[in-house]
Amino acid sequence: MMQVNFLDFSEQYTTIKDEVDIGLKRVFETGSFIMGPDVKDFENSFAQYCECRNGVGVNSGTDALYLALAALDVGVGDEIILPSFTFIATALCVSYTGATPVFVDVEQETYNIDSESFKKAITPKTKAVIPVHIYGQAANMKEICEIAKEHNIKVVEDACQAHGARYEGQRIGSLGDIGCFSFYPTKSLGAFGDGGIVVTDDEEIAEKIQMLRDYGRKGRYDHKVKGYNSRLDTVQAVVLAAKLKYLDEWNQMRADNAAYYNELLAGIKGVKIPLIKDNRTHVFQTYAVRLKERDRICDQMKDKGVGVLIHYPIPLHLQEAYKDAGYKKGDFPVSEQIANETLSLPMYPHITKDKIEFVCDALKSLV
Ligand SMILES: Cc1ncc(COP(=O)(O)O)c(C=O)c1O
Repeated sequence: MMQVNFLDFSEQYTTIKDEVDIGLKRVFETGSFIMGPDVKDFENSFAQYCECRNGVGVNSGTDALYLALAALDVGVGDEIILPSFTFIATALCVSYTGATPVFVDVEQETYNIDSESFKKAITPKTKAVIPVHIYGQAANMKEICEIAKEHNIKVVEDACQAHGARYEGQRIGSLGDIGCFSFYPTKSLGAFGDGGIVVTDDEEIAEKIQMLRDYGRKGRYDHKVKGYNSRLDTVQAVVLAAKLKYLDEWNQMRADNAAYYNELLAGIKGVKIPLIKDNRTHVFQTYAVRLKERDRICDQMKDKGVGVLIHYPIPLHLQEAYKDAGYKKGDFPVSEQIANETLSLPMYPHITKDKIEFVCDALKSLV
């Protein structure tokens, strides 16, 4: 029986293997494992890719978000607005600062933060909003940035799932005040371990994050602020630099695969295929459909040899970790509905057509 894994990056590895081997050999031979020119070069390349002036490598997407908020002096007494339908790290970074995460609902069609709900949640304490470009499609950045500007609120983009996506032609990560990316291995641009980066046009913020990620130092033992140890490893920078050259090509392959899924699944009763809004690209970090009997179908897809996952089964306002915030079931009906209906299908650049056909046949037989 055919088996389709949720992810398979073996062909990606074949593509970059030689370049990675050469780069790693250099790092191992010189013994220069922390910072140095490889990290700097990658930071510059990635910032340029995002059409931003500065890039600061850090050790994860979570830390990218946390250090972005810290650089904006977010702390106790502040409120940060974010969608309830996202990965928990979007909220954890707020909690680390001592500020209060304020959850809002998302759009039915894109699963991204709903701008009306964002507007309604603003109070005099609101310091920033974190739109998440969920699954790889940009949030409604024009409206979000306009509302934020009107209320003097900073926009920190959680771009951890959308490397390379565009909104009205512009790269995500460059639309708000700060863009935050994860290089967790399963991301469209994934390291061989943990990693992340912050991009921004603001020199002052970039400088602050450079200090914060490196013990708060300016000179070797000259510490200006109480910083952290959150740097991007040189080994990871070498891997990421090799992969970055292929990112647009791989994103196009993902988009083609998504189009083939859409073609095969369009019109199947009981399957809602993802919608791409005008003026945006979707880089399909995740290809998710919506199903009424999601849990049954999820189990049966696995029985049929298809690797599927649920991103995400519990919206943040209903997570045990946030029970102290006092939200209840029914507070964000769209987020709750999506959490009950969404199912992620196998998606990676080199997935073959016959594998996509196998997945779609399996799904059709179950709905
Ligand atoms: C939307 C979102 N935000 C934040 C993160 C956190 O990134 P990391 O795992 O690199 O800390 C992730 C991925 O894991 C994510 O998908």
